[in-house]
Amino acid sequence: MPSSPVLSYSIPQRLIHWLMAGLILFNLLFAEAMEELSEAVEEGQTPAPDMIASANIHAYVGIAVLCLGAIRVILRLTHRAPEAPAEEPPLGRLAAKVAHLAFYALFFVMPLSGIGKYYFGNDTAGFLHGGPLKLLMWVLIVVHILAVLVHQFYWKTDVAMRMTRG
Ligand code: HEM
Ligand code: HEM
Repeated sequence: MPSSPVLSYSIPQRLIHWLMAGLILFNLLFAEAMEELSEAVEEGQTPAPDMIASANIHAYVGIAVLCLGAIRVILRLTHRAPEAPAEEPPLGRLAAKVAHLAFYALFFVMPLSGIGKYYFGNDTAGFLHGGPLKLLMWVLIVVHILAVLVHQFYWKTDVAMRMTRG
């Protein structure tokens, strides 16, 4: 028997979407302490305790993203996601699939590369973390927000609703 279509994201999915969006934006915008700490360690200086404390906040927020990302994968597989609206052209659907998949990949590789640098001193991981992965995250966020605006005002679909009021 075919399962009934899902019309909206479930409440746990919606809560995790907005919680993770907040945590990710926090880490994207507040990473100076981590950069300063990395520089201080490379220059052989002893980092100040407040610098270490701020850097740890970045680390724990990022680790929270990793854990929530794992829960989110399970929810996505069990609660599934609503179908793309009929108004959205096939290319838009494909772009959304690729972008969402890339977001899911970043929920893991972004924190893991940070862990590689912070706890294991791996410079390649540090380069990926603060370079291409950071850039990809920003690009995806901007495109994602633009896509939601196009849905809302051009195609006039209900996608904003299904991630908010349901
Ligand atoms: C979603 C999670 C995360 C995001 C969005 C994020 C974002 C960032 C950003 C924007 C920078 C500044 C890079 C630059 O402009 O040079 C940075 C640096 C850094 N982050 Fe994260 N981060 C995350 C998770 C983590 C985690 C979990 C750790 C470690 C436990 C971590 C460790 C570091 C370190 C060590 C640096 C300094 C890299 C360097 O300068 O060599 N990050 N992060
Ligand atoms: C760091 C920020 C963000 C990330 C990482 C993110 C990630 C995602 C992902 C992966 C999905 C696919 C659904 C899922 O599996 O949960 C999604 C859906 C959605 N997001 Fe975001 N998001 C972010 C910020 C935002 C913002 C600021 C808005 C508001 C404009 C927004 C609005 C939506 C909407 C309306 C959907 C539902 C799309 C649909 O029905 O297919 N997101 N988001």
